[in-house]
Amino acid sequence: MVDQSSTSRILIVDDEPDLRSIYKRFLEIEGYPCRTAGDGEEAMDMLAVEDFSLVISDINMPGMSGIDLLRELGDKYSDVAVLMVSAIDDRKVAVDSLQLGAFSYMIKPVSRNELVINVVNGLRRRFLEIAHRRQSEKLEDLVQRRTRKLLEAKQELVVASEETVLRLAKAAEFRDDETAQHTLRMSHYCRIISYGCGFDANRCELIRLASQLHDVGKIGIPDAILLKPGKLTADEFTLMKEHARFGFRILSDSRARLLQVGAVIARAHHEKFDGSGYPDGLVGEDIAIEARIAAIADVFDALTSKRVYKNALPVTAAIDILREGRGHHFDPGLLDIFLADMDAVNRIREQFQDSGDQAGIKSRMPQ
Ligand SMILES: [Fe+2]
Ligand SMILES: [Fe+2]
Repeated sequence: MVDQSSTSRILIVDDEPDLRSIYKRFLEIEGYPCRTAGDGEEAMDMLAVEDFSLVISDINMPGMSGIDLLRELGDKYSDVAVLMVSAIDDRKVAVDSLQLGAFSYMIKPVSRNELVINVVNGLRRRFLEIAHRRQSEKLEDLVQRRTRKLLEAKQELVVASEETVLRLAKAAEFRDDETAQHTLRMSHYCRIISYGCGFDANRCELIRLASQLHDVGKIGIPDAILLKPGKLTADEFTLMKEHARFGFRILSDSRARLLQVGAVIARAHHEKFDGSGYPDGLVGEDIAIEARIAAIADVFDALTSKRVYKNALPVTAAIDILREGRGHHFDPGLLDIFLADMDAVNRIREQFQDSGDQAGIKSRMPQ
């Protein structure tokens, strides 16, 4: 334990001048620099401009009582140890002062020994409390910094994986007529339907991101077919349909949930509710819900987008076509959810409009 006497300044607060000077003398003999104040207000004034390690305060004083002073000290100078002095008839108040943070109390008359022992103990406890508090603050700071770093790293990972998905989708767009705006719009339509299904925000966002990969398998289709002007032969179309399986092969076997969902959507986004779709001819709810959602979003955007060989259909006409496919091509429940929120759909259409040269050059992908 370091000798704190030379650095620990003590403030003695008592309305009786004789007692102030007695305490002061006792403590100065022990090497403690002391100052004195005649009441609580004066003590607070001195504390505002001088550093003290310990305050010895009488309880019963005119004006601000020792208890009021103790409260003020607790609020403003929590590093200062407080020792109360009370008359014999204030004993109950003295005991209560311990609840308010006083280190100890002494009953008048106070002997020199009692005073010095209490001061030494008070300063020691103050020293330990400050050290403990500093240690806790250090630890808390360390935990906060580590947590922040972890969150930043996690955030970076999320951004990186989302960007990877976008760039993968872009790679497929380069090879085909579909525009980046198509991918973005259809992904947001997927989010609208997912939200309407009551999925939580994380799942909605997962489906939105994963749906951007629906046509990634087009990377595996030869240019001669992918870029062929005009209608595809039956064989060419058979090969073209393979883009669903190719997409699945590119994305499957990943441990990342995002790519797993992407794989499911890539494989099944051309399945139809009545079983007449491809590549597996799945029926109804055997088709993963993410793919049933993507099918609606993909077709709606294809119908309402301009291509060089066709104009964009008005939304009302596209809705009519979707309705015709209700229960045949599309999951009826999911279609109803989509059609019920056309305000949100229109906001997405406005936000992600095709510019003239962004519109695709052709499309031979039957829906
Ligand atoms: Fe497709
Ligand atoms: Fe598409």
